[in-house]
Amino acid sequence: MNRLLVALGMMLGMTQPVWADAGMDILKGQCSSCHNLTGPAPQTLKELWARKGPDLFYAGNKYRKEWLVQWLQNPTQIRPAGEFYEDHIKPGPKRDVVDPSTLKPHVALSASDAQAVADALMTLKPKSDLIAKEKIEEGTVSLSMGEMAFDKFLGCMACHRIEPDYGGLSGPEMYTAGKRLQPEYIASYIRSPQAWDPKIWMPNKHVSDGNIQKLVHYLEALSKEDNHAK
Ligand code: HEC
Ligand code: HEC
Repeated sequence: MNRLLVALGMMLGMTQPVWADAGMDILKGQCSSCHNLTGPAPQTLKELWARKGPDLFYAGNKYRKEWLVQWLQNPTQIRPAGEFYEDHIKPGPKRDVVDPSTLKPHVALSASDAQAVADALMTLKPKSDLIAKEKIEEGTVSLSMGEMAFDKFLGCMACHRIEPDYGGLSGPEMYTAGKRLQPEYIASYIRSPQAWDPKIWMPNKHVSDGNIQKLVHYLEALSKEDNHAK
């Protein structure tokens, strides 16, 4: 790191560390072949199905920075059947199962690169207007009540896992969502998935404000369970 640049950055009162620029260079060089860094989200199903990795252009509105720093060094599977899921499943005896031979491990970064990339990603905030509409209230919900809503009443488990190997496989797992995602993003995405990703197959279930709060608290509680902290 160029000391002069850092000093200059501090003098100018820059709110973002200068090494976010280094992170942006890594993103453009090593990540943009699979991840959209500039938007917009896919506008047709064909574009959606051709996507090679999740969109990162609103990363600053979506992720918790601490999670990014850790995950980029030690990536774990989030979508059980990768992206796009239909390319990675095969028929099983009862229902479709994941074909692991088609999934490749995600690139891992060094600690300093992960920090720089996370800093750069957190500057990408084109959806702050959606985030500003959400107010998360204090509250708790028991895991059993939360699961009842998530599974039985709202049908979310058809696509999302709440434990490794328990739940659907066409959406991201939800047992680390509370650590991975900002609570306002979780609320906003449940309220209107298509406001984030116009062609995504998650249905808008018109979940009430009260149930959105309940689901946010449930996912936070779920992330704290020891057996999921792998
Ligand atoms: C060969 C394609 C490919 C490349 C190159 C790649 N990624 Fe990914 N990335 C993926 C896929 C596929 C996933 C989804 C993994 C999953 O769901 O388990 C993913 C997931 C992620 C996630 C988690 C996103 C989420 O919302 O679940 C982040 C953050 C990420 N990648 C960052 C990066 C960074 C930073 C780089 C460059 C250093 C990079 N990726 C390079 C394909 C790629
Ligand atoms: C038909 C399948 C389906 C159903 C049913 C479904 N989802 Fe989703 N969900 C998805 C997909 C697909 C995504 C976006 C995946 C991506 O960005 O790669 C998603 C994304 C999310 C996200 C954002 C996660 C992230 O990592 O960006 C949350 C939170 C979420 N869903 C919660 C719910 C809740 C709560 C319900 C029930 C009310 C539900 N989902 C029902 C498929 C589904």
